[in-house]
Formats: sequence, C-alpha cells, structure tokens
Amino acid sequence: MIFAANFKTNHTRASTKTYMEDLKVKLVSKKPEDKVYIFPPSTALDRFDGDFTVGTQNAYATQNGAYTGEIGVEQLEEFGIKAILIGHSERREYMDETQTKVAEKFDFFKEQGFEIIYCIGEPLHIREKGFESVMQYLLAQFEGIDISYDKVIVAYEPIWAIGTGRSATVDEISTTHRALKKAINNKPLLYGGSAKPANIKEIISIAGVDGVLVGSASLSVESFSEMFLA
Ligand code: PGA
Repeated sequence: MIFAANFKTNHTRASTKTYMEDLKVKLVSKKPEDKVYIFPPSTALDRFDGDFTVGTQNAYATQNGAYTGEIGVEQLEEFGIKAILIGHSERREYMDETQTKVAEKFDFFKEQGFEIIYCIGEPLHIREKGFESVMQYLLAQFEGIDISYDKVIVAYEPIWAIGTGRSATVDEISTTHRALKKAINNKPLLYGGSAKPANIKEIISIAGVDGVLVGSASLSVESFSEMFLA
C-alpha cells in the first residue's frame, strides 16, 4: 500500500522538521512493502532521514529561469526531490490549471524522471449526474497524459469528498476504481478524500485501491501513522 500525505498550505519549516523526526520513529513499525510519501509546503522542503519519500506539491516546468514566485528542478535537486503531485483539484480550480497546462507539466516532469502522483476527480454536480458522467469527466483528465509512464501513480479524489469529512462510500470507490484501473492499465491507484484513521481499513481493503492520498488527517503525525500502522 501507498500512504501519501499532502500538507497543502499547512505546517512550517520548523513544524515539518519535528513531524519528520516523529514520523521516522513511527515508520520503523510499518510493513516493509508499504511506501510512504510526504508532500510538505515548498518552504519546508529539505533532506530528511527515514524510510519515506519527500515530494513537492507543485513546481514550474523549468530547470530554472525568470518565473517569479515559482520553483524549478534546480531548486528541487538541492534536496534530492524526485516526486511531484500534478493535477490536484485545488490547483486546477484555484490556480486555473487547465488540462493543457497540467499535461505540459506532466510531460516535463516525466522527461525529468520524476515520480508523478497524478490527481483526478469530479465535482459533486457531475457525481449527481450518474456514473457514466463521472467516468466521462475523469477520462477527460487523462487527455495529453502518458499513462504508460512507468513512474506514475494515479490518485482518484472526488472533489466533494476532499476536506469535507465525508469520504466517498465503499461502493462509489469500488466501482470508480474498477473502471479506472482498466483505463490506466492497472497502474497504482490511490483514493483521496477524507481518508482518516476511522475509515482507512475499509478503504484499503477495497479491490483496486493501492493506497491513499491524505490531506487533513495527515497533518498530525499520530493520525497519519495510525493509518499506515492500521
Ligand atoms: P483530505 O484531502 O484528506 O483533507 O480530504 C485530500 C487531498 O486533497 O489530497
């Protein structure tokens, strides 16, 4: 199983350092086959010691250059970072990242050999239209994306379940993952959206779920570690 923590715009450089130290201790008891990723905010990126991979929540598709406010590969290389989240719904929505932009970013970081957690997910009004509309919407988020890339992990995150405390139901996750798995040639597929200690066992036991991408419940090391130690 894969357990990925997305801090979003939470934690500082100081609190991330403490988190990573506490996490390292917890990770000693994790199952050897499980993999843990942490995506802290950019200001907290660093080299950390422990059995986990640190990735960036975002970066600009460049080595370096004149892109005020952005970070590129050169800044990530300083900390040995080779994993990135691309396509998260918050970036698509608040930062106006179009499918074309997302696909360009994917291509660039693929060329750089990054591990890419590629996020997709539908809004509530699409879910309410029924399963066919959901799949149509989700498949459109693969436009321009080379799903045959060997270092891609897909994260299915229904937008209406993100940060709301209300996860998708077992049935919703199960049917969507089954269909997505076929579409992505069986690549690793995470579920995201209010995954937490109380529902983790249920979620990771669903066929077609290879792990979780966790926001809110990853912010405390106790709660996040409860999930991979469950
Ligand atoms: P959540 O966020 O766990 O707070 O719902 C998940 C995500 O956006 O990755």
